[in-house]
Amino acid sequence: IEQYTFLSGRMPLPPLWSLGFQQCRWSYYPDSEVLSLARSFRQKKIPADVIYLDIHYMDAYKIFTSHPDRFPHPKTMIESLKSMGFHVVTIVDPGIKKEVGYSSYDEGVKNNYFIKYPNGKNYVGSVWPGECHFPDFTKPATREWWGKSFSSLIDPGVDGFWNDMNEPAVWGQSIPDLVRVDFDGTQSTMKEAHNVYGMQMARSTFEGTRALLKGNRPFVLTRAGYSGIQRYSAIWTGDNVPSDDHMMLSVRLVSSMGLAGMAFAGPDISGFSGDATPDLFARWLSLGTYTPLMRSHKQYGMKRHEPWSFGEEMEASSRTSIEQRYRLIPYIYSAFYQTSQSGLPVARTLAIDYTFDEKVYWSQFQNEYLFGDNLLIAPASSTEKYLNVYFPEGSWYRLSSGQLYQGNQATVVESPLDDLPVFARAGAIIPMQGVVQYTSEKRSDTLDIHVYFGPRATSYTYYEDDGITYQYENGQYYKRIVTFEPEKKEITLHAAEGIYRSAFSMIRIVLHGFAPDVRQIVVKTKNLPAERTTIAEGGASVIFRNSTDDIIVKW
Ligand code: NOJ
Repeated sequence: IEQYTFLSGRMPLPPLWSLGFQQCRWSYYPDSEVLSLARSFRQKKIPADVIYLDIHYMDAYKIFTSHPDRFPHPKTMIESLKSMGFHVVTIVDPGIKKEVGYSSYDEGVKNNYFIKYPNGKNYVGSVWPGECHFPDFTKPATREWWGKSFSSLIDPGVDGFWNDMNEPAVWGQSIPDLVRVDFDGTQSTMKEAHNVYGMQMARSTFEGTRALLKGNRPFVLTRAGYSGIQRYSAIWTGDNVPSDDHMMLSVRLVSSMGLAGMAFAGPDISGFSGDATPDLFARWLSLGTYTPLMRSHKQYGMKRHEPWSFGEEMEASSRTSIEQRYRLIPYIYSAFYQTSQSGLPVARTLAIDYTFDEKVYWSQFQNEYLFGDNLLIAPASSTEKYLNVYFPEGSWYRLSSGQLYQGNQATVVESPLDDLPVFARAGAIIPMQGVVQYTSEKRSDTLDIHVYFGPRATSYTYYEDDGITYQYENGQYYKRIVTFEPEKKEITLHAAEGIYRSAFSMIRIVLHGFAPDVRQIVVKTKNLPAERTTIAEGGASVIFRNSTDDIIVKW
């Protein structure tokens, strides 16, 4: 994977907010409805970072326009959303409506930005707006023009861009093979360009919006892609249905995409085309916590599928799943950092770490995967209250109970709807934060570093930066290797690298599975003494002030 992503490219660090919970529907409109959705999240204290606008925000589905009655004042609306900590992601499709006087159409025709029939006429296909022309994203001038067109969305404050229908999809046909494309000046046809078309659209969107956002990271989400798409965009798995089969399929699909270099992927949580049962909704959302892209989406005309749409009990369970996502943000962001460096995916099929363990290939365990370095996820369907889980080598602690399971064997575990089977590897080092309502909300002072006892030494790379700009390229990051050495009875936070100041002024080390050995914890650091030590039954923790030099925790 490292070699393949060396060739095809690795994803850059995403904006931190895109790792939060994303709420989508076809479509939230008008503006008052979008605002009331945002307020509901905040009133109900269900964390979320993103609200999507699907095709109804546009005027007659014309790309780069906004509907005059539904969204008369986009800037004012987005400012209100921002004040509540929300980011807005808008959809864009490639089809440009044939309509004289619509600037994207006029400019495209005038400058030859569209794909053409062999006779030189612009290709016509029908999508939402009716008859359309399609930008030739294989042409540098078109890509530049398309990228710059996003000023109409960025000016009012949009910073996420959802590229849909970019296979490209056209009603009732595929674009004929003989349609001509520029192919970066070499001239070719759709026969050759078909698969690359969607990626070039995402590329153009990413490059254009990155330039326009003046130092902030854009978030791009695409439906179509090609080898290397990870350089520009996250990917969702397209129109799925609300069934256990599709939920499990999505788990394997996301793991497979990870193997192919595409780390930032996820399905439409709860299934796009249809109404989910409350149980499926709850289970899928809990799986979403451990999916690189956590985005809920629903087709036009279906019931509401917000976290509170299924009654109080389900609302509470949705909150628990989403809160857990936000607690894990330091761990998830560090996993994305790792991806940006090595290409290793965030959701990892067990075949990556346990290649020579034949049981990981057994179909009954095919849905299991690692989320980041240290968590084993065992997806259960919405009806399975018990699950036969295969534990690879080592031993594993259930996150919710601390119960220890031995590796190299399968064991039946309980999998009630409110407790997805998730396990921490023995030796795991897992950084977590307190719950916030959105990723840029002021975090708690304390970073919790959970360490799960194991017999062998382990090491973990923690990474943090401002989560929004590219200043990390100038050294504005905070990276720290944490090692756990059971024989020396030491956990070391090695000196921090980079000039960014961590958002956490305190660190708490929480020990799991160490008792009854641990009687006393000593923190050695150049300047600062330990503040507090708590030894509780079955575990212990110590909290101390964060500093950038070596900190050694001994027990
Ligand atoms: C097809 C996409 O796959 C879906 O997610 C979207 O809601 C519809 N197009 C409408 O834009």
